[in-house]
Amino acid sequence: MDLKTTTLDPLINLTRKENGNKDLESFAHHVAAGLSQPPKKLSSRYFYDGPGSALFQQIMELPEYYPTRCEYEVLTDNKAAITAHLAKKGFFHLIDLGAGDALKTKILLKELQERQILFDYLPVDISEDAMQQLSSSLEKEMPELNHQAIVGDYDDSLGWLQHNKTGRKVILFLGSNIGNFEHEESLDFLSKVRSHLEPGDSLLLGIDLRKDPDKILSAYNDSAGVTAAFNLNLLHRINRELGGDFDVNGFFHYPIYNPQEGVMRSYLVSKQEQNVFIQATGKSFHFSAWEAIHTESSYKYTLPQIQAMAEASGFIMEIVFQDNQGCFADVIFKAV
Ligand code: AVI
Repeated sequence: MDLKTTTLDPLINLTRKENGNKDLESFAHHVAAGLSQPPKKLSSRYFYDGPGSALFQQIMELPEYYPTRCEYEVLTDNKAAITAHLAKKGFFHLIDLGAGDALKTKILLKELQERQILFDYLPVDISEDAMQQLSSSLEKEMPELNHQAIVGDYDDSLGWLQHNKTGRKVILFLGSNIGNFEHEESLDFLSKVRSHLEPGDSLLLGIDLRKDPDKILSAYNDSAGVTAAFNLNLLHRINRELGGDFDVNGFFHYPIYNPQEGVMRSYLVSKQEQNVFIQATGKSFHFSAWEAIHTESSYKYTLPQIQAMAEASGFIMEIVFQDNQGCFADVIFKAV
């Protein structure tokens, strides 16, 4: 059977070139605000420039970084059950938020194709390069697949999809990206996703689970120093894009896991007292010796917490898939 039913425009770009300066302005504004007050804070959202994304690819291959391998196992071992469940009600749009290279999603795409299930694939990512590469890899590897890559942030993309794609929607949000939100932000995000769905639509969410604190800590403090380079790249990025004069060697990566809150927090700690001037902010920022910048939170969840999140944001938790060691869960939420 020919599953390629329509020819979709391979790439839609919802970002505008003239946004370039606005993006730099808001980065400068964020940095100025985050470094002006104690405790200092920068958002992990800014980790992912070109070099940061390349470092994150390396992290996912590290022996200590278990989440990617565990989620791969969950999706591989349960691909038949997951796809059968998603396909129960006929054709659907599969929307992959933060798709990147879609390495894990391809497990499901191949299974859906093998079972001759009718769907189209709409990966969403803020990186145009990533979406172009993904689009050409899909053309090569799965020429029968109907797909359309969308370049944009989650909000704009979900709004565009709501107006331009009718029919059932299944949203993927894999890789424990939800863990990088603070609790309140997670609920805001899930409620926003829900507001773009109809009752009966689904969300497949990948979430890292609570486990031995030492295992979690090593995943964010690898022996090859890749995660340290990933964290410190934020200072390089400020130097490159905002004209900062950070002496990056004057800081070190410091991750710490809080087992009561279930959160891994990463910091950049200043080795000495120093001042840093950042041209785009027009300001100098003072660091005391051992003063830290909080740069990332990675929350780990329990299954009851995940169920509570579903219910607080207009979903019910329908099915839970886990790896053998109970490290990672991929859960299906149904919009109610
Ligand atoms: C993208 N995100 C889910 C990763 C995580 O585990 O929080 C980012 C990361 N930070 C350090 N290592 C990986």
